[in-house]
Amino acid sequence: MYDLKIKDLSFSYKNDNRLILKDININVKEGEFVCLLGQSGCGKSTFLRLLTGLETSNTGTILLGDKPINSAGLDRGVVFQDYGLFPWMTAGENIMLALKQKYPNEDKKKLKNLAIDTMKSVGLDESIYRKLPKELSGGMKQRCAIAQAFSINPPILLMDEPFGALDAVTRALLQDLLLELWSKDNLKKTVFFVTHDVDEALLLASRIIVFGQSPSSIIYECYIPPNKRPTRENQFENPEILQLRNNLILQINKDVASRIEA
Ligand SMILES: Nc1ncnc2c1ncn2[C@@H]1O[C@H](COP(=O)(O)OP(=O)(O)OP(=O)(O)O)[C@@H](O)[C@H]1O
Ligand SMILES: [Mg+2]
Repeated sequence: MYDLKIKDLSFSYKNDNRLILKDININVKEGEFVCLLGQSGCGKSTFLRLLTGLETSNTGTILLGDKPINSAGLDRGVVFQDYGLFPWMTAGENIMLALKQKYPNEDKKKLKNLAIDTMKSVGLDESIYRKLPKELSGGMKQRCAIAQAFSINPPILLMDEPFGALDAVTRALLQDLLLELWSKDNLKKTVFFVTHDVDEALLLASRIIVFGQSPSSIIYECYIPPNKRPTRENQFENPEILQLRNNLILQINKDVASRIEA
């Protein structure tokens, strides 16, 4: 039902003729945890925006199930790179906005409790509920955006460098929380997760996709099957994961070097 089929996708922004994405073809099955890697500016956020439906492709198709994606939907929870919180609403109101859309007939008090519980699960104090985004640190805003996406418990999560502004301890905590959320239901969520951190990708992903420099297409991809998944403890001792790590770094560096030479 939530399989994604991306076929011959190319994209350029309307105000700029430059091709950003070129001939992207991917099929992603429900339940895959896809990490996207690639140099800054190659088009990872653009690709995620196409999956949210906030941008539409020039050519090619993106099908979710058998329907084209052409608008935002509650089946996709989004954590934007710039947090995506409305600045005139408090942190709590931002989360409530998503919850009220998802559960329009639910008692408001119940929803508020759910919002506060989700905020607590990402390490935010209840007092943050009444604060405006401008009164929060980058990491707090990021956690609010994550709480907003988690609170509606969508089958698909689109996350753009969601842990980039966090300290190492909070980051590890939220990585674990995300993995728990991903694997707790019988039918796993589908996650698209952009990161610059190869080790984070290896810890989280069931599949890693590397985008090349623009116009960007997929230059490398690999799978990490369930029985080969590393843990935080053995990640840097596991020979197969270390081999994958070297390969990923090599591919990314090769892509950068080819641009410098060109
Ligand atoms: N709204 C826009 N209008 C025109 N060009 C844009 C727009 N947003 C992004 N771009 C351009 O598209 C290209 C890809 O940008 P994008 O933000 O997708 O890269 P990214 O891979 O997410 O980079 P980073 O890792 O730095 O976040 C860049 O050249 C950028 O300048
Ligand atoms: Mg980006």
